[in-house]
Amino acid sequence: MEKVTLHDKTFRLFIPNAEIEKAIDAVAERLNKDYADCTDQDPAILLCTLNGAVIFAAELLKRVTFPLVLKACKLSSYEGTSSTGVVKTEVPLPSRLEGKRVIIVEDIVDTGNTIVAMTRKLRELKVRDARVCTLLVKREVYDKDVELDYVAMEVPNRFIVGFGLDYDELGRNIKDIYVLDD
Ligand code: IMP
Ligand code: MG
Repeated sequence: MEKVTLHDKTFRLFIPNAEIEKAIDAVAERLNKDYADCTDQDPAILLCTLNGAVIFAAELLKRVTFPLVLKACKLSSYEGTSSTGVVKTEVPLPSRLEGKRVIIVEDIVDTGNTIVAMTRKLRELKVRDARVCTLLVKREVYDKDVELDYVAMEVPNRFIVGFGLDYDELGRNIKDIYVLDD
């Protein structure tokens, strides 16, 4: 499909699924090296940020081989096609993370407000290590100090949907990434 319409907007094909999956292969390979020393007694915590990161998290789960525990939380800052700047907690972070190595799995880092809020909370929970693994980043927009340890792909400052990302909740189930056609 070259174009899709969601609500009142039209989007055009931007990144085909095969390209996304190849980028995920590379990230998973790096994670497998960096977390090879995890054990059943000391597993990594894969912290999936709902809802956008579900597909990325699932694709990672199919590829990573070290012991891990899957957790989820839900923070939100977007309404329609732009960030509100206020990060709301809809499903709180899991409470017992003290001493754990946490991998935050994000769909996209834009202003970075979400990732800053999450890493702050993880510090309060006394995790041993927290790293960010994101499918996408809008480098032109991101201006925070939190290091993005694992980035599958960089995208320009355009509104995109698909592969878990939504426009007012629609479009998450599109397997390629589409960009707003304006
Ligand atoms: P940040 O807090 O500004 O970094 O925004 C991160 C969150 O905003 C992501 O987890 C997404 O849910 C949402 N978001 C940012 N850019 C886009 C986009 O282009 N399409 C869909 N959602 C987006
Ligand atoms: Mg969203």
